[in-house]
Amino acid sequence: MDAIQPGGPQVRLLDLIEAMRKLRRAACASQPEAGVVTDARGAALAILTPAGIFVSANRSAAALLGYSSAELVGKRLVDLAPDDAHAALTDDLSASAAREFHSFKALLTGRTGHPTRLALHQQWVPAKTMNSGVLLTLFEEPLIIEPGSADSELLDASERLCQTYLMIGQQKERQRLASELHDGLGQALTLVKLMTEDALMRIRRGQVDDAVQLLDSTVFRIRETIGDVRQICGELRPLMLDKLGLPAALGSLCRRIERGTGAMSVVFDCDVADKDVPEHLKADMFRVAQEALNNAVKHAAATEISLSLRSDAARLMLTIRDNGIGYENHPFATDEAYTTGLGLVGMQHRVEMHGGAFSIESSAATGTLVCATWTR
Ligand SMILES: Nc1ncnc2c1ncn2[C@@H]1O[C@H](COP(=O)(O)OP(=O)(O)O)[C@@H](O)[C@H]1O
Ligand SMILES: [Mg+2]
Repeated sequence: MDAIQPGGPQVRLLDLIEAMRKLRRAACASQPEAGVVTDARGAALAILTPAGIFVSANRSAAALLGYSSAELVGKRLVDLAPDDAHAALTDDLSASAAREFHSFKALLTGRTGHPTRLALHQQWVPAKTMNSGVLLTLFEEPLIIEPGSADSELLDASERLCQTYLMIGQQKERQRLASELHDGLGQALTLVKLMTEDALMRIRRGQVDDAVQLLDSTVFRIRETIGDVRQICGELRPLMLDKLGLPAALGSLCRRIERGTGAMSVVFDCDVADKDVPEHLKADMFRVAQEALNNAVKHAAATEISLSLRSDAARLMLTIRDNGIGYENHPFATDEAYTTGLGLVGMQHRVEMHGGAFSIESSAATGTLVCATWTR
């Protein structure tokens, strides 16, 4: 981690937010044909040193490459590419380090060894020290539409372009879900089946103690698998949303957080009915509220948090305010941030991807205000 080791050049969090805004703008301009498709988990984001070493990666980026966030930290991007692609990738990384913004395609194999062509958009984020910085990186699966395919006919009708991209995004998401179910859940169930059969065989042979031990491990496996299923479902769409609707789901989230933290008060204020929120925005709104509330609990040392969802004739406004310590001049360089810390830019991406406006005001005197607004 050459660029932002503790004590080394540091990047301000608010500069990261600004870099994300520039990155989105530049990525759209450089690839007008590409729809921004992110999966149910949100954008795949990472921070790399100019030499291409992972400083931090969010879960989407890590999942795309087949690792956990913690495993990616310290790895070199080129080591995730096939040998014959190393030179080109190194050139592209140098190009990124020399400009403000650079987009390129790269073949990455990740852990599975299966090559995937990805688009990388890199935005330079200057550090406090002169001549240093990091590369905020957005990974995208490019939308390749073969001429003559059924999709290309849709492309001719430009007004349907957006729907096409959305559809392709959904297909990609289904593919990813299918592989997660197959590789994760499928494997786990196969293992459970084998272990149970083995235990049965031992019982028949009278080896009861062995069978008991095996069944114990089987129960442990099943428990783990139930956890995985919950996680996959929760990532796709918070279950509470469909059961309760958005306002009630947000209210319940606030109560859960208040109960969990003890001394902190969490106030929820809402003048919007579930039916007045466009369906495609609900999951994003929930995720943004969840991330901002979690941040307030984890980092702010606040005594009061308030979440508000309000509307006027033109807009829907989601705000999360805390009276904590803020992070105006806080650098992106805490140990924790190395393995997790891309929640802020992830929120911003979610909001802006659907045409919303995102802002953060944060100071030691007033705490933090996260605000997301969508036009109706
Ligand atoms: N409400 C807040 N109050 C104080 N600090 C915050 C707040 N929200 C975020 N931060 C700071 O910003 C950093 C980055 O936040 P985030 O991108 O969500 O990553 P993570 O929560 O995984 O660390 C946090 O590590 C913390 O230092
Ligand atoms: Mg966070």
